[in-house]
Amino acid sequence: MENQNIKKTILSGVQPSGTLTIGNYLGALRNWATMQYDYNCYFCVVDLHAITVRQVPAELRQNCLKTLALYLAVGIDPEKNTLFMQSHVPAHAELAWVLSCYTMFGELSRMTQFKDKSAKHSDNINAGLFTYPVLMAADILLYQPDLVPVGNDQKQHIEIARDIANRFNGVYSETFKIPEPYMPKAGARIMSLSEPTSKMSKSDLGDGSVFLLDSRDVVIKKIKRAVTDSGSEVKYAEGKDGINNLMSIYSAFTGKSFEDIEKEFDGKGYGAFKLAVAETVADSLSEIQDKYNVFISDKEQLNKILIEGAQKASYTAEKTLRKVYRKVGFYSVK
Ligand code: TYM
Repeated sequence: MENQNIKKTILSGVQPSGTLTIGNYLGALRNWATMQYDYNCYFCVVDLHAITVRQVPAELRQNCLKTLALYLAVGIDPEKNTLFMQSHVPAHAELAWVLSCYTMFGELSRMTQFKDKSAKHSDNINAGLFTYPVLMAADILLYQPDLVPVGNDQKQHIEIARDIANRFNGVYSETFKIPEPYMPKAGARIMSLSEPTSKMSKSDLGDGSVFLLDSRDVVIKKIKRAVTDSGSEVKYAEGKDGINNLMSIYSAFTGKSFEDIEKEFDGKGYGAFKLAVAETVADSLSEIQDKYNVFISDKEQLNKILIEGAQKASYTAEKTLRKVYRKVGFYSVK
């Protein structure tokens, strides 16, 4: 029998701000699917985070459900794990307020995601975009996780969550467990196909991102068009960002080492290599898509998962929140 008490805990989430990319899959989701057997897992769709950037309400609603269906399609079992929508568990917003009083303006100003996003959305540099890492710290700390499985770009946010937790623990005695980031060996930072020096992102609607729901033809077209240097040798080397990225993608999907890949494509040129990457990715995505199509068409089951998930998540989250309220000195009638 599984004993939830002796298992370590993990928590992670994805913003439903578009369709998930192979970056989200290789950097995070795929790891979650393998970790679910050994950990007590909380996986959340972080809808509160998504509105730091303007969203079309009907699309956001749809993307929330699509993200959950993708969690299921990559093999995350709703019976084994707690799957929930962030906005269904009010403790996230409540703890975020308390933690914001223990987070410094200076440390938030140093966050690279804030700098990037405020440059991209210069007409809407709202307070939520700035305090985003505090909400993320609340997401994490409420569940007292040991590990937070994420891609490389979230490392800085986990570091600030650790700093906030340490600061709070220092003032009030041990309240939060200090979590560690957990990143995959291959695929922790997948780059854009059209601009291989920037991260692949959900918001890039051009040819730079491969989405988990892209059709086979689109996947093949995007990967064949991926920007590479003017050489022809399939070799991992500094400055060959495009080829390095395609090698990372191929390695993450096939489990082959860079050395194996270099041997496999020795003398074959970029064209043959791109086609192999494209077909490998398209095959993997078509398996995910077949499952996705089944899950997304059963809204009743998705709703049931969310209702049960919110109950389970709230139970744990409220325990932590009550402890925090007591420590900071809020009066309680219970
Ligand atoms: P988000 O929605 O941008 O991305 C979700 C997950 O995918 C990873 N990821 C990538 N990995 C490799 N290569 C890429 N190009 C790539 N792009 C994204 C991210 O690292 C992440 O693991 N702030 C978070 C969401 C969040 C969260 C949390 C995560 C909110 N609260 C609590 C963990 C714990 C974000 O914007 O992820």
